[in-house]
Formats: sequence, C-alpha cells, structure tokens
Amino acid sequence: MRQINKDVRVVEVGPRDGFQNVKVFIPTEKKIEMIETVIDAGVKEMEITSFVSPKAIPQMADAKEVVGAIKARKYKNLFLTALVPNLFGARVALEMKMDAINFVISVSESHNKENVRHTIDESFAELERIVNEYSNVQGAPHLILSLPTTFGCPFEGPQPVSKVINMVRRGMDLGIRRFIFSDTIGVANPLQVESFFEEIFATLPSGLELGLHLHDTRGMALANAFAALSFPINSLESSFGGFGGCPFAPGAAGNVATEDLVNMLENLGVPTGIDIKKLVKAALELAKFAPDALNSHMARVLTGKAAPCGL
Ligand code: COA
Ligand code: ZN
Repeated sequence: MRQINKDVRVVEVGPRDGFQNVKVFIPTEKKIEMIETVIDAGVKEMEITSFVSPKAIPQMADAKEVVGAIKARKYKNLFLTALVPNLFGARVALEMKMDAINFVISVSESHNKENVRHTIDESFAELERIVNEYSNVQGAPHLILSLPTTFGCPFEGPQPVSKVINMVRRGMDLGIRRFIFSDTIGVANPLQVESFFEEIFATLPSGLELGLHLHDTRGMALANAFAALSFPINSLESSFGGFGGCPFAPGAAGNVATEDLVNMLENLGVPTGIDIKKLVKAALELAKFAPDALNSHMARVLTGKAAPCGL
C-alpha cells in the first residue's frame, strides 16, 4: 500500500490567486467577508493578497485595506502571507506586518519578464536587496520563494528540473528555506510530479520546507496532489471555489478548489481541520462576481447539482 504523507497542510491562496483573475472589481468589504468565512472554515495559512502594481493587477488595489481589516480582528494561529514581486512590495509587506512574503521568480525567463518585467537575474538581485533590508529589522516577514512555471511555461514549454533546482540553490544562498513549486498553467501530470519530487528529494538537502501550488486547467490538479502525497512535502496550495489564474500566463485557469482538496485529503485520512461547507459558502459568494469561473466539485455536491450517492 502506498504511504500517504499525513503532515501536509493546506494553504489557501484564493484571496490572491482567485481574486486577481476576477475581471470586475470586488468591493473591499466583500473581499473581507469572504476571507473571514474562509478563516472561519478553519484555514490556518493564507496568501491573503499581493503587493503589486495596481496597473498590473487592478483587483489588488485595496490590498492594504484588506490586510488591515483582517489584522484588526486579531485571529489566533493564522499565518498570513502576501505575494511580492519587488522591493517596493516587500516594504509594504513589512509595514503591514505580514508573517511572510512569497517572492515570485518564474522558472522560465519569458514568463518572469511578462509577469514582473524583470529578467531572472534582476529578480534575484531584487530578492537580495530585500534579504539585506529585512535582515536589519526585527520581526520582518519570513521569506518564501515561489517558482511559477516549474512544470511548464506558456511561452517556452516544459522546464527542466535542473533549472528549478538551480533556482532553489540560489534562494538557499540567500538564506531562504521555504520554496513553492507552482504549476501556473496546470500542465503537470501525476507521473511528472512523482519524478519531479524524486529528483528534488534526491538532490536537495533535507530541512527545506517545500510546497506545491496547483492549477486545474486540464483537470489534473487533484491527481497531481495525490502524486505529491508520496513525498514529505509540507504544503499544498489551493483556492476556494477553484478560482484563479495568472493574467500574464495565457490559457491559465483556476487553482484546484480548496474544498475539493480538503475532501480528498480527509478521505485519505489526512486531517485538515477545515470545514468544506463554509468554504463552499465563500465559493458561492465569489461566484457572484465570476459565475463562469466556479470550478468546484464539492459546491456541486452541496448545492444538490451532483447525483446523490448510489445513482
Ligand atoms: N506595489 C505597488 N506599486 C508598485 C509596486 C508594488 N509592488 N512596484 C512598483 N509599483 C508602482 C511604481 O511606484 C510605479 O508607480 P507610478 O507609475 O505611479 O510611478 C509603477 O508601479 C511602475 O513601477 P516600475 O518599477 O517601473 O514597475 P513596472 O511597470 O516595471 O512593473 C511590477 C513591475 C513588478 C511592479 C509589475 O509588473 C507587477 O506588479 N507585477 C505583478 C504581477 C502579478 O501579480 N502577477 C500575478 C501573480 S504570479
Ligand atoms: Zn497560481
């Protein structure tokens, strides 16, 4: 029998990845309400926003207000991260007292250029500036390096694992210990995920914290999550309602829905502490702003649109 990693935790990225791809502006108080519902569901770690140029991602223009409102609630045991593309964003994250930042550098040069208008080398130089600036500040956010297009790029196609490993090593040289591998356009397949992690765990030193960020563009995200559970990864990233997608990656669609991931994990005996019904409540709320983008099996089950058991 296959051994399942039971120590994996679910990281909710809907308030960043999900919201950013919704075309109409979601009023700030609605964003806050949905985030509160998701926290109420039992989510303990969340990428709550991104500190990016509002010209690049208009939906994130109210990032500081959203974070400020949630921080004011003083939730206990809630780890809040924000996506950051540059030093400017890292300074905002510091000001907002984020627990961690997800600094993004794509594995493929062309996606990095599209997404953050930097070469990979320029992004690493920017990351070094952040590391230096944060090192002088007590209580500065932790640093996470997120690696979009790990499993394939919309412009360059498949990416060799050696390139990913090289980027992790560059991050480690800067003192970073936590890395997220992102299937930005949902092209990975379960065997690829297995061989990827075999190589990662055979090559990189132990003691790193590793996560997988899943998109469901081709319906393979849950299968990919299942494949990853054979390895001692630390986190799986998903978005309530299955919303999401990078506006700078043509053809990218939503993340795996958190409620579907939680349902699978609980069925496999992996405890999550997350209430699926409450996630679906938040998902149906977000669906009011982007009805066609809802991609959630559990929402169909709980709203009676799926066939009951036995039929
Ligand atoms: N947050 C808010 N504003 C920012 C910013 C940040 N992190 N970084 C730069 N800006 C502002 C600058 O102050 C400047 O404002 P101005 O026009 O009023 O003077 C403007 O944005 C342009 O700054 P510049 O440094 O020239 O940035 P750019 O136009 O080359 O864009 C990024 C670079 C990284 C800011 C932009 O591409 C970006 O925000 N990308 C994020 C993409 C993303 O979130 N993708 C999805 C997640 S994977
Ligand atoms: Zn994503």
